[in-house]
Amino acid sequence: MMDEFAWTAFDRESTKTPSIERPSQNQVHLYCLEFAPYLEAVSRLSEWLSEEERQRAARLRFADGRDRFILSHAYTRFVLARYLGIHPRDVEFGTSETGKPWVVGESGGMEERFGFNLSHCKTYVVVAVAPTLLVGVDVEEHRPNMDALGIAKRYFAPEEFAVFETLAEEEIEPYFLKIWTCKEAFVKAIGLGLSYSLNRFQAIGLQDNRPELIGIEPDYGPSSAWSLRTCRPAQEVHIAIAVRLPNAAIVQCG
Ligand SMILES: CC(C)(COP(=O)(O)OP(=O)(O)OC[C@H]1O[C@@H](n2cnc3c(N)ncnc32)[C@H](O)[C@@H]1OP(=O)(O)O)[C@@H](O)C(=O)NCCC(=O)NCCS
Repeated sequence: MMDEFAWTAFDRESTKTPSIERPSQNQVHLYCLEFAPYLEAVSRLSEWLSEEERQRAARLRFADGRDRFILSHAYTRFVLARYLGIHPRDVEFGTSETGKPWVVGESGGMEERFGFNLSHCKTYVVVAVAPTLLVGVDVEEHRPNMDALGIAKRYFAPEEFAVFETLAEEEIEPYFLKIWTCKEAFVKAIGLGLSYSLNRFQAIGLQDNRPELIGIEPDYGPSSAWSLRTCRPAQEVHIAIAVRLPNAAIVQCG
């Protein structure tokens, strides 16, 4: 019975469903899970996934990628199920024309609906939950041999690239990951992903820890309607959240 499920930890069941309040009007709930402790539970947790998700996992070439995909989707279901008061396997997703997932059965306009976004890297999955569909999250971690300057020059606005020329060698990669996650979080929030050129807007104030988006096109703006937040669960890991809520507060939930 659905009502008899609850979760004391991501992969454990207990006897009663806890109910978590949805984020209030200026909040984003942020969840971050490290994969490693849950790798042994992959086959059991894959039962929570839909047939389509299982097929997507099966198409992934490498076993570690498949495990991360399954854990990411099981965890996202777990997070959302606690707000909805249902079993994780009963969470239903729809997707926008551009591939952004949303929760089926939620009414209201784009900016009033219960929204979420997820991102995964090699070590972590991160889920952001907000009172709007216009939320995006990105997590990136250090990769050996990353051509940070080359990518920045090619994809970022000239003003953003100019900052790199003021940085010491060891500052380049951390700054690159910070700005990249901010920009990807925004393009995920608007649902267009990397089909939206990253040089069409700017993320500024990152060195002072006062990140802001500027130059947002009128279709998505004004800039003052958006909040951009960053955090680091570990030294080499960068997370950014972009949400169309002014002065948003990030509540770390997991
Ligand atoms: C969306 C995108 C930015 C994700 O980049 P990534 O660094 O590989 O992945 P992340 O881990 O940060 O995020 C992946 C998750 O974002 C979500 N997502 C997928 N498409 C999305 C979109 N358009 N907008 C926001 N979120 C999206 C999914 O939940 C996805 O998880 P899954 O792949 O496990 O199902 C990238 O895949 C992209 O730009 N895709 C192109 C979108 C596009 O061209 N659309 C036009 C087609 S009409």
